[in-house]
Amino acid sequence: MQIDSSNPSKSPATLIHELESIVERIDLEKIFPKAQPLQLELGSGDGSFLAKYAAAHPENNFIGVERLLGRLRKINKKGLRAGLTNLRLARIEAAYLLEFLLPKKCVTALHVYFPDPWPKRKHRKNRLINETFTELAKDILQPGGTVYLRTDDADYFEQMNRVFDANRAFEKTETPLELSSVVTDFERNFHLRGVPTLAAAYRLK
Ligand SMILES: C[S@@+](CC[C@H](N)C(=O)[O-])C[C@H]1O[C@@H](n2cnc3c(N)ncnc32)[C@H](O)[C@@H]1O
Repeated sequence: MQIDSSNPSKSPATLIHELESIVERIDLEKIFPKAQPLQLELGSGDGSFLAKYAAAHPENNFIGVERLLGRLRKINKKGLRAGLTNLRLARIEAAYLLEFLLPKKCVTALHVYFPDPWPKRKHRKNRLINETFTELAKDILQPGGTVYLRTDDADYFEQMNRVFDANRAFEKTETPLELSSVVTDFERNFHLRGVPTLAAAYRLK
């Protein structure tokens, strides 16, 4: 993971954060020019959602997490072109970042859109959203913080709802239209092909 933390108040040459350690937690004050509420997108893909949403919300900081470098570079280009100062990018496995590298209770919203569905039964153990994830979300979110989920896979959607319904720290809530109207790359493709998509949101009590 790369982060340019030399002088976050200047326009950075890259939004990709270079990680100095894989065991010490990231000092958020060092990587953003302004201390403000933090939102994360896990598995940001080409950044279609994140670049647009971060531009619409300069009063929030955003970290986009993506394990594929090519995709991260696409988001980086989008963010730099838009002159975004409230966006940073991390190349790392999403659950590891949540568990080990971010300070606890530092996030107000977690966006997880069209995570890999792993449709074969024997591969379902690879899904990002499971019981363990609800605990990671509980630890990283501030009280009142929300997890926003979208998928095209009905079975995965059932799993997402089941695990969050079972975690008593969360309650079901609505996704505001202002948020749901900002679509991701995969979502745009599904809509073009007439594939229905599903959304859910859970708020930490
Ligand atoms: C199906 S794509 C969806 C991309 C984007 N959210 C969208 O809706 O257009 C899933 C993305 O998540 C990334 N990804 C999958 N598992 C991940 C993980 N554990 N940590 C970080 N990124 C992950 C993949 O590389 C891929 O870009």
